Amino acid sequence: MEKKFKRTLVTTALPYANGPVHIGHLAGVYVPADIYVRYLRLCGQEVIMIGGSDEHGVPITIKAMREGVTPQDIVDRYHSIIKESMKGLGISFDIYSRTTSEIHNRTASEFFRRLYDTDQFVEKSSMQLYDPEAGQFLADRYVTGECPHCHNAGAYGDQCEACGTSLAATDLINPKSAITGCIPELRETRHWFLPLDRWEPMLRKWILDGHQEWKTNVYGQCKSWLDMGLQPRAVSRDLSWGVPVPVEGAEGKVLYVWFDAPIGYISNTKELLPDSWERWWKDPETRVINFIGKDNIVFHCIVFPAMLAAYGDGFQLPDNVPANEFLNLEGDKISTSRNWAVWLHEYLQDFPGKQDVLRYVLTANAPETKDNDFTWRDFQARNNNELVAILGNFVNRVVVLMHKYFGGEVPAAGALQDIDTAVLNEITALKDSVSENIETFHFREALREAMNIARAGNRYLQETEPWKLAKTDMARVATVLNVAAQITGALAVVTEPFLPFASERMARMLGMTDPMDWAMLSDVAAIIPAGRKFGEAELLFEKIEDAAIEAQTARLARIKEENRIKSFTPAPQAADVDFDTFCRADLRVGTVVECERVPKADKLLRFLIDDGMGRRTIVSGIAKYYAPEDLVGKQVCFIANLPVRKLRGIESQGMILSAENADGSLVVIGPTAPVVPGAQVK
Ligand code: MF3
Ligand code: ZN
Repeated sequence: MEKKFKRTLVTTALPYANGPVHIGHLAGVYVPADIYVRYLRLCGQEVIMIGGSDEHGVPITIKAMREGVTPQDIVDRYHSIIKESMKGLGISFDIYSRTTSEIHNRTASEFFRRLYDTDQFVEKSSMQLYDPEAGQFLADRYVTGECPHCHNAGAYGDQCEACGTSLAATDLINPKSAITGCIPELRETRHWFLPLDRWEPMLRKWILDGHQEWKTNVYGQCKSWLDMGLQPRAVSRDLSWGVPVPVEGAEGKVLYVWFDAPIGYISNTKELLPDSWERWWKDPETRVINFIGKDNIVFHCIVFPAMLAAYGDGFQLPDNVPANEFLNLEGDKISTSRNWAVWLHEYLQDFPGKQDVLRYVLTANAPETKDNDFTWRDFQARNNNELVAILGNFVNRVVVLMHKYFGGEVPAAGALQDIDTAVLNEITALKDSVSENIETFHFREALREAMNIARAGNRYLQETEPWKLAKTDMARVATVLNVAAQITGALAVVTEPFLPFASERMARMLGMTDPMDWAMLSDVAAIIPAGRKFGEAELLFEKIEDAAIEAQTARLARIKEENRIKSFTPAPQAADVDFDTFCRADLRVGTVVECERVPKADKLLRFLIDDGMGRRTIVSGIAKYYAPEDLVGKQVCFIANLPVRKLRGIESQGMILSAENADGSLVVIGPTAPVVPGAQVK
């Protein structure tokens, strides 16, 4: 790694504490950041990883309101779930704090005050939406309405999630209060704005000229924002939950959550290192890296840098902002409110000891350049075909062979043959490629290259066949197993950033008692010294059976069903019909005497109905929803006086009534107590 910088400060987007973290957060931010930080630590670099919960903002107060609890209750609940589950996955934060901490309140407040005192804000009155019933202004997500761009009816006052456009609440068509449902009115209010336009030349030069190495998705978004021209942005809100605006006459106003949250990176560093935090923020030899998801790009590349520049005092702007795209789940957008997610704390319960499997799958399938999809089948396949069959298998073979032929003690190598030097050179090239890819934020490629070391190891054993050599040439077996041991040693080191739990088990098996570091790879022929005593073979990964996967897909199917029911909106009422017209329809109750499938028609059932006057045949399109024998003996409503219709050659003398459910399935309508066949429905 180039030595322009002395130390690296890694920040990870602070997740909103309005729900637990899910695989989308992990794939986008925390797993890649953790790989990066663990790698730098292995390289002996000075690095800290800052995290914490984002505990202000409207989604939290809305959730509290809906549950009838306080916002503090909500953030306490989710902060601890998030913190514990991240720890469970091995995300190695140096600190994971929260924006309701005392130190954060002070830091954010002081930050605002300094900008205020140095005239970095413009103060403006504007008309904002106000809910007269609730008696409060409706900031951000307190308003829903129609998006002016894509006309999605469920857009929020700060953003339309359907088209991704960021909005002002007053842009919405037909706005509605999320508190009372009433139509808001406009009222005048005063706010402080950060004039981003003042910082446009600085930002252009810094990003567009200075950081062309940033990922194309990040650079491209910045460029398009800058090319549209920057506007002043309000940094205060009329709300009661948040950091109070530290200015006289600002009662009832708090800092906008996107003003206070990124300052959380600073507060959390202060909390971690009260005496030396400034070194991590204000020394040009510190490199700041912000790991975020793509919806956070503008705040980290435009707004927060403008805030830092306005503050001055040597605050460093980020050197890179490796934002990822989004991860979908089984083809649908992950959503906290729709419960469409794999929640980390639930995963850890359902798959104990399998932290690395999730880390592996989320990295191998990371949405680095485009949105990607997580599926449980892919999860299973990657575990069974890659972790078990390639990595676990190789390490296990080497450890078992070492015990079998050398009592578990690594023998010295004799003269190396071409095949030995070739594989060792390959490992050197691969570990260098892992480094290069991690350093340039290409984590999925880095992981592929790490796995290629195990692939090379398997191929080497296949080609040298030490189990055959053992019959004739134990000296050669010693050399081969020495080389194979080096490959397992390389794997233990190289996999640590990605699979820290498995790496630890490997190190134990290989008798590596000292802490590992990347420098051990500088000579791959000498990672494991001859005479080293191996531990017992341990299981690195185990197969995941179909049943475990099916339990997960069944859970998702249930959620999909619940969501369909929740989002069901009845069809609009039909135009009026006059009473006499309605009365001409002759509705009756009949008893099903026979019911059977219509051959070669998968939708149709043929009924024989006792209608009190005799028997009639009716064909009905409900075969998908009923087993015919279950309907025999039941009473159904039908229209008796429709013209006869021929369906598949059968004359249908009427129509059975059924109701269409949210999922499109049909339920037959009948009387709630037995009635005489032929009874009229009135
Ligand atoms: N809470 C925000 C989100 O989940 C991220 C905040 S990042 C910070 O999108 F920089 F503001 F902290
Ligand atoms: Zn839209």
